[in-house]
Amino acid sequence: MKSFFVTGGAGFIGSEFVRVALKSYENLKIVDFDALTYAGNLENLRGLDDARHIFVKGDICDKQAVLDAMPEGVDAVFNFAAESHVDRSIESANEFVETNVLGTQILLDCARERGAGRFVQISTDEVMGTLPERDDAFFTEDSPIAPNSPYAASKAAAEQFVRAARETFGIDTVVTRCGNNYGFRQFPEKLIPLMISNALNDEPLPLYGDGRNVRDWIFVTDHCEAILEVYEKGSSGETYNIGARNPLRNIEVVSGILDHLGKPHSLIKPVEDRLGHDRRYAIDPTRIETELGWKARIGWEEGLAKTIEWYVSNEDWIASVKSGEYQEFYERYYSHRIAQ
Ligand code: NAD
Ligand code: DAU
Repeated sequence: MKSFFVTGGAGFIGSEFVRVALKSYENLKIVDFDALTYAGNLENLRGLDDARHIFVKGDICDKQAVLDAMPEGVDAVFNFAAESHVDRSIESANEFVETNVLGTQILLDCARERGAGRFVQISTDEVMGTLPERDDAFFTEDSPIAPNSPYAASKAAAEQFVRAARETFGIDTVVTRCGNNYGFRQFPEKLIPLMISNALNDEPLPLYGDGRNVRDWIFVTDHCEAILEVYEKGSSGETYNIGARNPLRNIEVVSGILDHLGKPHSLIKPVEDRLGHDRRYAIDPTRIETELGWKARIGWEEGLAKTIEWYVSNEDWIASVKSGEYQEFYERYYSHRIAQ
């Protein structure tokens, strides 16, 4: 019997990872450890097999709570737990330092104490900052670390603690750096679900700056399958970029959503730019493709159509996650931008 300790497993990617892992291994037990912040939602775990998936509500900054939940000799720790939204990190960075940096260090200590087999740090392409606006520029595993937002800085710092834990204590670690995920159950603060949700309600679609920033999009299931490949076959101490070779300008993404829904492009509302807005992300996934034999399977048109259909069919989910704290964030962050 294999055992995984997954943090942040009630969030967007973590909850998909739990599904992919349970499907991939029959004899697997997962402890899913999540603080259920505004971004975590037990609805995301609906329908999972309770005998093989145990949910524990807890904060990765609380060492005793982590130790209590982490099984002795666990096969792997997968660290998805994070504050993940760039705009929130621009409003206030403290929570990002706490969860993303201190929380990762505490998890590393716990993994060592519990004799974990491997520590998998889920990182991001954003630690490498921005690329020049040229179609032939890509992030590789050798690109310099140059984070530009407080979120990216906290994820870059976390990577350094992972590296230090390996060098100092000999923990078996691997790091994955993926680009922008899209798919089911993504919190509507992020570009794609926000735009789908606003379009469905005929509300303005707030597009930052000139809308020509590039993000490299991957369907969330592809990302999760890649993480499992890295866990299984990745070399200890190494970093693997994960991408689907799908860099797109934001205006192309937003237009695609409107076209799919049959809504007018006049809903697009250019708004003031994000501070320090990275211009272009594009991942070269050659290493994971050639060394580990992984390749993204879901194309953009198919993935976007499936994603839109999911949001159209799950308006209750959107309504429930948009209530409360998110409503306040949306008002605070967007009302003056959209009114301009
Ligand atoms: P998310 O915001 O949807 O989910 C984060 C989850 O972590 C939530 O369930 C939340 O409750 C939990 N969490 C937050 N603070 C916690 C704490 N202190 N203790 C325990 N749990 C806590 O994020 P996501 O988009 O699913 O991203 C997951 C991970 O993947 C993050 O580490 C992020 O940096 C990384 N990543 C995300 C993307 C992307 O496009 N979304 C791309 C590359 C990497
Ligand atoms: O690249 C990986 C990263 O992708 C992850 O590490 C982050 O956790 C994840 O949030 C995401 O970061 P981005 O900042 O790229 O994602 P976001 O969805 O916030 O924005 C995508 C692009 O869309 C970006 O160029 C900003 C723009 N945007 C975003 C929002 C929310 C808009 O134009 N309008 C908006 O309202």
